[in-house]
Amino acid sequence: MIDVKLQSVLSSLAQPAKELGAQSPGRRAPDARYVKLNTNENPFPLPTMVWRSAISALERQYLYPEDDNIGLREAAADAYGLSKDHVIAGNGSSELLALIYRAFLGPGDSVAMMSPGFSFNRKLALLQRAKLLEVSCSDSPSIPIEQFLLGPAKDAKFILLANPNNPTGTFVSIDDIERLVAQSDRLIVLDEAYVDFAPDNGLRLVHRYPNLLLLRTLSKSYAAAGIRVGFCLGHPEIIGRLRNIQNVFNMNIIGQAVGVSILSHRAAYEENHRHIKNERERVATQLRQFGFGVAPSHTNFLLARVPNGHDGKWWHAALERDGILVAVFADDGLDDCIRISIGTKEQMDSFLTAVAAIRGHEKR
Ligand SMILES: Cc1ncc(COP(=O)(O)O)c(C=O)c1O
Repeated sequence: MIDVKLQSVLSSLAQPAKELGAQSPGRRAPDARYVKLNTNENPFPLPTMVWRSAISALERQYLYPEDDNIGLREAAADAYGLSKDHVIAGNGSSELLALIYRAFLGPGDSVAMMSPGFSFNRKLALLQRAKLLEVSCSDSPSIPIEQFLLGPAKDAKFILLANPNNPTGTFVSIDDIERLVAQSDRLIVLDEAYVDFAPDNGLRLVHRYPNLLLLRTLSKSYAAAGIRVGFCLGHPEIIGRLRNIQNVFNMNIIGQAVGVSILSHRAAYEENHRHIKNERERVATQLRQFGFGVAPSHTNFLLARVPNGHDGKWWHAALERDGILVAVFADDGLDDCIRISIGTKEQMDSFLTAVAAIRGHEKR
């Protein structure tokens, strides 16, 4: 009887939920004994003033957060030299990315993105019953503009560029991006999750082009991944439509307060950004000496091609046995790579010590 009812309910699922099936049980978050270098967090404490803002927000726990995130949007508008009508705020930039998919894509539509790219996009496209066109860019520091303008991607409802890109770490010049935005009448979504570790950013383009949406997050360069704060910046006509389909009270009061505080203490993070960039170069140099191929990175992670003899999965397992977690990408043509987030000096020393031990052990 239960089975019959359950089957009946499951058969009522909409197509994407049917196709995706149930979520796998997953794994609990690793405990503190692990050196966690697999999801590009920034393992530094919040500046004291920011931390205090979170504590005082807790005293208002019985209130709903401000609707439409007006205070937070005003703070972001101030920080980025825009008006609050140019800004929508969300629980991380991934919530806003999902909102863009929901706003622009219906069944049968297509969206184009640079590949390899942020894999979450595959699920977002499937949920809209839309086609994801992946335009191969490998780790080239330029974008194939013609493919986006004239190839199958020309009819895409929007084009998604992550700059710097994840998982390659590649940075494309803002001039290149501007050429595409200027020549295309499509919406271009420029995801700048890692931009504070890069030499330039696309903020100035928001002022120039109505067909650009810029995504920013406080998860990576502002060490607040667990607080979940992200922004999308763009023309008020587009932003207003996104705000109108957003969940009510989508953020919480701690996210709102920490977001405002981080935006007014951005200078406090400069030392952190310098540290990450220096560590990134130190680790890249050492990895090359151990026989890894490391492409230049403009992010807080490195994509490293492992030495001949084993694949990325093998290295992932070997490092995990030593308490180090890194990311691998089985389905992106990157099966001989591992991605390593850059953390504290101690974390990176532990990682390098483990790599040295594994390499030494291999050679014997
Ligand atoms: C390219 C890119 N965009 C967006 C995100 C989502 O970040 P968040 O939702 O934490 O803002 C990530 C996270 O890893 C990412 O790599």
